[in-house]
Amino acid sequence: MTNKYTRIIGTGSVLPDFVLTNDMLEKMVDTSDEWIVSRTGIKERRIELEREVSELGVIAAQRALECSGERAEDMDFVILSTVTPEFYTPSTANVIQGKLNIPNAFSFDVSAACSGFIYALDIADLYIKSGKAKKGLIVSCDMVSRITDYEDRTMSVLMGDAAGAVVVTGDTERGIQTSYIRAASNDNRYTELYANSGITKALFDKQSGEYLGRSAPNRDAMMHMNGRAIYEFIVKILPVIFEKCLGAIGKTSSDIDHMLIHQANKRIIDYLIEKYGLNTDRVPMNIERYGNTSSSTTPLLLDELNRNGKLKEGDLVALIAFGAGLTYGASILRW
Ligand SMILES: CC(C)(COP(=O)(O)OP(=O)(O)OC[C@H]1O[C@@H](n2cnc3c(N)ncnc32)[C@H](O)[C@@H]1OP(=O)(O)O)[C@@H](O)C(=O)NCCC(=O)NCCS
Repeated sequence: MTNKYTRIIGTGSVLPDFVLTNDMLEKMVDTSDEWIVSRTGIKERRIELEREVSELGVIAAQRALECSGERAEDMDFVILSTVTPEFYTPSTANVIQGKLNIPNAFSFDVSAACSGFIYALDIADLYIKSGKAKKGLIVSCDMVSRITDYEDRTMSVLMGDAAGAVVVTGDTERGIQTSYIRAASNDNRYTELYANSGITKALFDKQSGEYLGRSAPNRDAMMHMNGRAIYEFIVKILPVIFEKCLGAIGKTSSDIDHMLIHQANKRIIDYLIEKYGLNTDRVPMNIERYGNTSSSTTPLLLDELNRNGKLKEGDLVALIAFGAGLTYGASILRW
């Protein structure tokens, strides 16, 4: 039997303990609390000093499972959004599946940067609606501090680590109403935010076939960003995809009860609040406390709202995210 909708039935998240404040950053790079707060809205962010990506992912997943009342062994899939996988192979989703001891599921990573949770949700939606899967876990864990250069003021002030997770299942009445994912990579926008992988090349002499060893390690494996160019693109594209999703279900922005916008810059969020005349109570933010936690910002916000009892049955929730790629996406769900 196929389901009409894919519904989130549990949320979970976890944050590292170590707090990196603007005052601490002032001592590390040429910046100021005033610049960071006025340009981004960020006051502090969390950095994971010890645990691995899968460890945070497992904790967030366990909390989401507990919240949903479901058992790990009944999950049909684990889809992880991350830009900081623990291994080249296997996928970190495989590791999380193993640590949660889920015997009969498929698992893989999605690499769509800060839009990764929306991408993963969209993929899960197809599996659930087709009837190929009944229940599954979507996890976001980006340990962006591991690819952030703390001597580069342009990136270090923005990023933080976190993990979030949701459990999804089929439903005949509530759940994802519509979603839309895209990437503007055709005009080389992927060069506006990147971190090289650090993979080295195998070197062979083409004539003799002699193995010459490996190329020098790539020393450019930290994130680089053209923030201004991304900002300008994003404020143009977000209204387009938001309105596309609203149009697909015959709603307007005033019908949205909670609008969860990727926490990359408070100014981008304020721009959308002003453009649509949104009540700020309906646009939750945690950027001040956690900075940009990449694809984890969306499930983190969702978990905070859920645990604070703010999400009521039947509420319309819009999720909007964007990131390296440049990827972007939106989803509207009925809670
Ligand atoms: C990154 C971002 C906060 C920078 O803000 P901005 O207002 O665009 O600032 P600019 O990059 O134009 O830089 C303005 C000045 O501040 C300086 N500056 C940059 N980082 C600084 C820092 N941390 N502290 C102090 N000064 C800084 C710049 O060198 C520049 O100086 P100049 O005018 O002397 O040349 C903003 O562009 C942004 O949020 N972009 C979108 C990023 C994004 O969403 N990325 C996707 C991630 S998922």
